[in-house]
Amino acid sequence: MRSWPTKTLALGGDYNPEQWPRPVWDEDIALMQRANIAFVSLGIFSWSWLEPAKGEYDFEWLDTIMDKLHAGGIAVDLATATATPPPWLSAAHPEILPVDVDGHTLWPGSRQAWCPTSPVFRDYALALARQLATRYHDHPALAMWHVSNEYACHNLPCYCDECARHFRTWLRRRYEGLDALNDAWGTAFWSQRYTDWEQILPPRRSTTFNNPTHVLDYKRFSSDALLEHMRGERAVLDELSPGVPVTTNFMTLQHFRHLDYTQWTPTVDVVSTDHYIVDVLQHPRAELAFSGDLTRGLAGGAPWMLMEHSTSAVNWQPTNHAKAPGQTIRDALAHVARGADTIGWFQWRQSRAGSEKFHSAVVPHAGADSARFREVEELGRIAGRLGELVGSRVESRVAILHDYQAIWAAEGPCMPSSELDALEAAHAIHRQLHDRGVTADVVHPSADLTTYAVVVVPQLYLVTDEHAAAVAAAAEAGAQVVVTYFSGISDEQDHVRLGGYPGAFRDLLGVRVEEFFPLGPDETVLLTDGTGTWWSEDVTALPGTEVVSTYAAPPLAGRPAVTRRDVGRGGAAWYLSTLPDDDRLGALLDGVLSAAGVEPTVAALPRGVEATRRSDSTGSWLFLLNHTSAEQTVRATGHDLVSDTAVDGSVRLAPGGAAVVRER
Ligand code: GAL
Repeated sequence: MRSWPTKTLALGGDYNPEQWPRPVWDEDIALMQRANIAFVSLGIFSWSWLEPAKGEYDFEWLDTIMDKLHAGGIAVDLATATATPPPWLSAAHPEILPVDVDGHTLWPGSRQAWCPTSPVFRDYALALARQLATRYHDHPALAMWHVSNEYACHNLPCYCDECARHFRTWLRRRYEGLDALNDAWGTAFWSQRYTDWEQILPPRRSTTFNNPTHVLDYKRFSSDALLEHMRGERAVLDELSPGVPVTTNFMTLQHFRHLDYTQWTPTVDVVSTDHYIVDVLQHPRAELAFSGDLTRGLAGGAPWMLMEHSTSAVNWQPTNHAKAPGQTIRDALAHVARGADTIGWFQWRQSRAGSEKFHSAVVPHAGADSARFREVEELGRIAGRLGELVGSRVESRVAILHDYQAIWAAEGPCMPSSELDALEAAHAIHRQLHDRGVTADVVHPSADLTTYAVVVVPQLYLVTDEHAAAVAAAAEAGAQVVVTYFSGISDEQDHVRLGGYPGAFRDLLGVRVEEFFPLGPDETVLLTDGTGTWWSEDVTALPGTEVVSTYAAPPLAGRPAVTRRDVGRGGAAWYLSTLPDDDRLGALLDGVLSAAGVEPTVAALPRGVEATRRSDSTGSWLFLLNHTSAEQTVRATGHDLVSDTAVDGSVRLAPGGAAVVRER
């Protein structure tokens, strides 16, 4: 994977000059220079301006702003502008519109109203990409191509007839014959046996639950369909603009699960993502950290690009809270702490009209004479000093496994609990580690697990034999492996592994489970050393497996709740059949970390302070983010690049403040 072509920690953001009269453009560029803005993403929603009528292009305005940006020293991440078709296109070809699960057309009037498999949309989109690549491939401002925007944010899944046709083709490729499909989908159940490919439809709304493997395959197909679209655009760019890096912005947020990004990373030169803090979450900061660790996992540990976040409030939550003074800086650094080398915002200048007029921006409605803009300017100065760490990597000895396909299967219809979030255990364990200053890589089960001292397998409901074997091999080689409830239950086709749960991990863990006893959101179960939430089950510890804690109330009183088994050369396999309360989970993880010899990033980290370390052959940088409203002190020695002062033994963090200490 190539890296973003800048040597500094690049700040930037979405720039929509078409919303403003031209004199504002010159002011924009002067302000960008003041704030040390290195790049802008241009043209993301500009299709109707670039092609006002079929085949009629107007590039004059884009030529002008590209030239101005170049003259101003600002690099351009140029969009293929295909994220949202213009009204003339959907009016002429309503067949490009997506259709929801009930068969309702999703009409134009907002954005991204296009069907992922529409050949008509694809032809028009590729034609526009071709025009842009031909015209700008050698423009000196061009530094990167930005394909479409947040694929699947609004238009997936689509259930139209065109998607039905493409789905059948996808299925023929996957299964070759109908017998294999019938077997995979378990169509012996409920009289679902197919005798002709044409009988197969998308899993549209039915009388009751759709077939789970049908639903799972539709998710796989839908992600692949959009990836196919991206590949089409990429092929045009490779042909006409070779050598310029290509990206598309992922959405590695907790609530976005439509695309299997593991399949997408080979199609981008730089992994980029968008992240917004969701206030309604119980632990929004920990979610940000998880997102960064997942993005880094997708990037194979390499630095990545934060394409979008917000300087302050968004406009799509029930109450859109403004950020506190200092938070614009701290949030940006929180992504750098997890491996981002580029920091972008949506958007540069706050719109006067349209759906996002109350979404914050770098230049707010109040103008540049504002605390928000001054804070970005301050970050610009800090970014200048942070250039030295660009390219360095985040240190981590812990892996948390994450697989979109396992999440999709676990979210399938008719599960033991529809109230259990598929990422509950992953986030709970990550948060405990985060609170301890222990950094985890969130990686796909196919990642190389041999470098990790701890491997966490949280609710990995669906797992292939190969991935289960890799987890067992990690334990054999000496890792502490922590598996939670509802892991290893089914295979790739979502067929349950028989003989007792957790099928794929039963031998590794030395346990056998006969029945699940899920808990509702308001239920808990007493353990001998705490309480369990979300789940419980009837566990038998097999000979050689140690019982760490036990259920202490009916119906499972006396049954093992947490177990541990020695494996291979100093490794161990821990099993959590419930999600213990925070204190107990934390204590368990302390035991796991100490057995693995994993130390926190810094000793005696105050509660509410986040700590990570980036390093390379030239140095190491300690990131400290104070999420509390009190001053905090942390042991460190070196030079703080945020305040540009020497640190001798300890660094004082202002309330809500941050430090990046160059340690060597
Ligand atoms: C993203 C999108 C941007 C903007 C932003 C607002 O999903 O890519 O165009 O809408 O959200 O938070």
